[in-house]
Amino acid sequence: MTKMSAVGRQGIPLIELDHVDKTFGPVVALRDISLGVYPGEVHCLLGDNGAGKSTLIKTLSGVHQPSRGELRIEGRKVVFESPRDAINAGVATVYQDLAMLPLMSIARNFFLGREITRQVGPFKVFDMDTASRITREELHKIGIDLRDPDQAIGTLSGGERQSVAIARAIYFGAKVLILDEPTSALGVKEAAVVLKYVLQARARHLGVIFITHNVHHAWAVGDTFTVLNRGQSYGTFAKEATNREALLSMMAGGEALEELSVELGEIAHTDRTAAARSEAAAARALHEGAVHPGGHG
Ligand SMILES: Nc1ncnc2c1ncn2[C@@H]1O[C@H](COP(=O)(O)OP(=O)(O)OP(=O)(O)O)[C@@H](O)[C@H]1O
Ligand SMILES: [Mg+2]
Repeated sequence: MTKMSAVGRQGIPLIELDHVDKTFGPVVALRDISLGVYPGEVHCLLGDNGAGKSTLIKTLSGVHQPSRGELRIEGRKVVFESPRDAINAGVATVYQDLAMLPLMSIARNFFLGREITRQVGPFKVFDMDTASRITREELHKIGIDLRDPDQAIGTLSGGERQSVAIARAIYFGAKVLILDEPTSALGVKEAAVVLKYVLQARARHLGVIFITHNVHHAWAVGDTFTVLNRGQSYGTFAKEATNREALLSMMAGGEALEELSVELGEIAHTDRTAAARSEAAAARALHEGAVHPGGHG
């Protein structure tokens, strides 16, 4: 089994798991997981159902605490007692079932839990004008042009809603952006929109953890790939050191794993210039995914 260390990715990881186990009574959901995510890296987390992906991101985002091992933020050991601790440390998680209020405006949702207010006589009221202006500006920065920030968020498509959630995380100062299956319920075009915002987040030097079943979506934007299978990691591979077939095979449980490990070779090293790959290359990879859809199992 080949495990890639942080060779080639420079500096200190934004977020890091060091030999982490997570058990629920007798159930071992994660065993000996070590991984790090660096600024400007899209780190894809792949794995079949029950592989431990959700448990892993919940451990990164303060929902669970590791049963063994350490969580580090920029090199410092941390214990997140709650999701709020993780958010305060700059770890933003966008769940698939977005915590949004469909009938409320985009601007209202953008500021959900972070309300900005203004004083009207003795009362503090939500400052709708400022919220609308900031929402419009922030979405514009990542390339979304809103018709009207006051329209109900429920009128946006799934991909647009994911994009709003990404813009929101960036605006509120996230350093690490965790996306849990953001494209799984989307069609090809919608998925492409979300993947474009993943690249925008990378361009702003966030570390992005992108959880997906879809190897084509992962391949379109990923710099590094960690494959989980039954709670264990097959290791982290740089894009240059692997290919879609190998990732699929590992996700499926890796019958041919021993051979693959040899092929995938020793420590891969990520070329920083590769991290700056153009969106065009991503679009091409995605197009291939559209021509040969699937990617599960
Ligand atoms: N709170 C819990 N208590 C007991 N077992 C749990 C708990 N949470 C997860 N597990 C177990 O841990 C294993 C990994 O589950 P997890 O939800 O992390 O997988 P996953 O990779 O996210 O799967 P999926 O693709 O289906 O979402 C499963 O066997 C699951 O039953
Ligand atoms: Mg899950």
